[in-house]
Amino acid sequence: MRAMTQADVDAVLAIEQAVQRFPWTRGNFIDVLESGYVCRVNETDSGEIRGYAILMMAADEAELLSIGVAQAEQRKGLGRAMLGEILGAARERNLQRVFLEVHSSNVAAIALYRSAGFSEIGARRDYYRNADGCEDALVMACGLKDESNG
Ligand SMILES: CC(C)(COP(=O)(O)OP(=O)(O)OC[C@H]1O[C@@H](n2cnc3c(N)ncnc32)[C@H](O)[C@@H]1OP(=O)(O)O)[C@@H](O)C(=O)NCCC(=O)NCCS
Repeated sequence: MRAMTQADVDAVLAIEQAVQRFPWTRGNFIDVLESGYVCRVNETDSGEIRGYAILMMAADEAELLSIGVAQAEQRKGLGRAMLGEILGAARERNLQRVFLEVHSSNVAAIALYRSAGFSEIGARRDYYRNADGCEDALVMACGLKDESNG
């Protein structure tokens, strides 16, 4: 992966709107770029963006804010590779743990996170709300040091 820039926002937003149930806005992506979060994209040899991941660091912990893979590129190992790389970036910064929140019905993402070492540490009832109703968020964490793993 390489660092995301403002020039990538259109392509990232197109994937976001196609694959996320509650997509971020252009402004959300601009904000995370300007805030200096770890924003990475994965692209093909021809320069077409096919995935992205965003990590927010706070003290010695971090939160995975978003990860997405273009529909046509899903189920080929890209999500796992990007998540591994972003966790590697967190380890390089000597962080202790990475947290995330995920829709309780997002079986694909939950399976990916579990396989990467995340486990559930809690839930937020009715955390996600839209016109169709409410949905719980699962809170998951991954320890980056051997002694605190999980
Ligand atoms: C979640 C997401 C990033 C996974 O990316 P991906 O490149 O398709 O995932 P991978 O091919 O690396 O798969 C890794 C593991 O995730 C799980 N997984 C991925 N897609 C799955 C699906 N449709 N159903 C069940 N498990 C799935 C599997 O455990 C898989 O391992 P396996 O292939 O050995 O069985 C992708 O589905 C996506 O972009 N979804 C929409 C956005 C989203 O929900 N993001 C997370 C919340 S921000």
